[in-house]
Amino acid sequence: MSNPREVQLVSRPVGWPTPENFALVESAPTQLAEGQIRVRNEVMSVDPYMRGRMSDAKSYAEPYALGEAMHGGAVGEVVESRADGVAVGDHVLHGLGWREEAVVDAASARVVDTSVAPASAYLGVLGMTGLTAYAGLTRIAGLKAGDVVFVSGAAGAVGSAVGQIAKALGASRVIGSAGSQEKVDHLLNDLGFDAAFNYKDGRVSDLLREAAPDGIDVYFDNVGGDHLEAAIGSLRLGGRIAICGAISVYNNTEAAPGPRNLARLIQTRGTIQGFLVGDHYDIAGEYATKAAGWIADGTLTSRETFVDGIDHAVDGFLGVLRGENLGKMLVRL
Ligand SMILES: NC(=O)c1ccc[n+]([C@@H]2O[C@H](COP(=O)([O-])OP(=O)(O)OC[C@H]3O[C@@H](n4cnc5c(N)ncnc54)[C@H](OP(=O)(O)O)[C@@H]3O)[C@@H](O)[C@H]2O)c1
Repeated sequence: MSNPREVQLVSRPVGWPTPENFALVESAPTQLAEGQIRVRNEVMSVDPYMRGRMSDAKSYAEPYALGEAMHGGAVGEVVESRADGVAVGDHVLHGLGWREEAVVDAASARVVDTSVAPASAYLGVLGMTGLTAYAGLTRIAGLKAGDVVFVSGAAGAVGSAVGQIAKALGASRVIGSAGSQEKVDHLLNDLGFDAAFNYKDGRVSDLLREAAPDGIDVYFDNVGGDHLEAAIGSLRLGGRIAICGAISVYNNTEAAPGPRNLARLIQTRGTIQGFLVGDHYDIAGEYATKAAGWIADGTLTSRETFVDGIDHAVDGFLGVLRGENLGKMLVRL
């Protein structure tokens, strides 16, 4: 029988990653040490932040090493255990995705209940991306009842949660932007957005002004670039901008120019603050409780887009960067 396979980074992408930057290889057999578990991964996450780790530029996280398996969120079934408290048959959330089988220190894994929610939910709406939306809105943007909220990347994993959670927390109007008519229809018809536009249909500043003629109080930025400039241009007095991501520039080979209208922040007394979800796990329990209630009463729904098989994991990752996902992009292993 062949050994389980893993995806390694073999060269650092310059600009857009290509399949040649990756290799699918059989992993070497590994014995478990005391405190470790062997996990047959069932689903793994592919996330935009992984693009940053493929470069060796200094960042908040270590770059992926060349010639080694990449890593990221995954959920799987424990098939062997040398750890107290984790039994064969348990499902665990852990950080060693990009491989069919993982040897994990049990201390860094969390047992999850797949009878309550599917394994995939712990990588999306009940996991990192859901918490990102909640922390960004509550802690960074200081969302208040009555606020008009604009979110970019609105049909993606974080963005779709942002729009719905903002509504649940009392936003008076939620506006989203996304890259296709199908996504715009999804925001309006399925997720309860009040207005939405396809940012490819014109200048983002014009499209936003049309969707929010009286301006916005909060902008949740997943995209950067001209979206950020447009949001600054539409900001009302005391407006807040939470910088979550800047996917429009992740594959740039040269630094993109910043917004040309920063001086509007003086007029509006506006603020811009970046954040990392990793700093906000102290409210993960609070979020999980609220999310469970919102999911149960239909306030918070989530879509998932699946790619099947580790041999298509890179396609799934490239698909996220290209916008091929509705909701959370995942790879079923
Ligand atoms: N700060 C943190 O701690 C943290 C945590 C998680 C995620 N993030 C960031 O949050 C953002 C969303 O992450 P996610 O996991 O939820 O991914 P996602 O939104 O599910 O997927 C990425 C989406 O970005 C859109 N996109 C790609 N290129 C674009 C461009 N040039 N202009 C506008 N939109 C573009 C695509 O949708 P369209 O079809 O609409 O273009 C694509 O579906 C990313 O920027 C990510 O890096 C930050």
